[in-house]
Amino acid sequence: MRWLPSFLFAVCVAHPALAQDALRGKLLYHDIGRVRGTGVSCVDCHGGIPGALHGLEKVAGNPNAIAYAIGAVQQMTPLRGRVTVEDMADIAAYVADPAVASPAVHLTTSGPAASAYTSERLEFAGAGTSSVRLTNAGALPFGLGAAPFLDGPAAAQFILAASDCESGAVLAPQQSCALRVEYRPVGIGLRTATLRIAHDWIGGSTNVALIGR
Ligand code: HEC
Repeated sequence: MRWLPSFLFAVCVAHPALAQDALRGKLLYHDIGRVRGTGVSCVDCHGGIPGALHGLEKVAGNPNAIAYAIGAVQQMTPLRGRVTVEDMADIAAYVADPAVASPAVHLTTSGPAASAYTSERLEFAGAGTSSVRLTNAGALPFGLGAAPFLDGPAAAQFILAASDCESGAVLAPQQSCALRVEYRPVGIGLRTATLRIAHDWIGGSTNVALIGR
């Protein structure tokens, strides 16, 4: 059995991707559309794990099943040539260990009684102030990117009044940061804008639709 150690050595050298990273695999499974520019991610067609559809379970610990599927499945054409060997190894590691510790970005909003609000939308019935809180509900930290900002057609009618969601800050598990958004309408009519909070986890940013009346 003298060949065995050198065989293993050769495999490890030929495939640096053997150091699979299930956490990175989780990010890719949910967000490869953005990360690799494929426009669509595994989760969009296969659904979440457990319970994923279309034979996804074959991927657990088996990156070759991904390479095969990308080549063979018509619907997976957008992924061709864009998913690296390392990406496949990491996704296979995630499918084998879907409970891998990870960050989890949770958004909550609150506002005056006159406003309707859900976690992805702040609706102002008139001038007023509401707040948005970003919480790390996961088991690992995530980082914030550039400072939160407003864009969209009526961005100028909304103001980021205060924020401790600072550029580059790291949110540890259970930690949160908050922003206050003020609506100061000029004239009449419906106004819309988007609040964007950049981070380094799934989606790359959390966005809140701002609607003012
Ligand atoms: C645009 C939709 C779409 C996306 C995105 C997608 N898949 Fe699929 N995939 C499918 C469909 C549909 C099938 C089933 C094809 C069939 O059974 O004929 C499939 C089948 C598979 C299979 C089983 C192939 C086989 O051997 O039977 C694997 C494995 C797989 N996909 C992995 C992935 C992974 C990993 C990703 C993300 C990197 C991904 N897919 C992204 C639509 C998609």
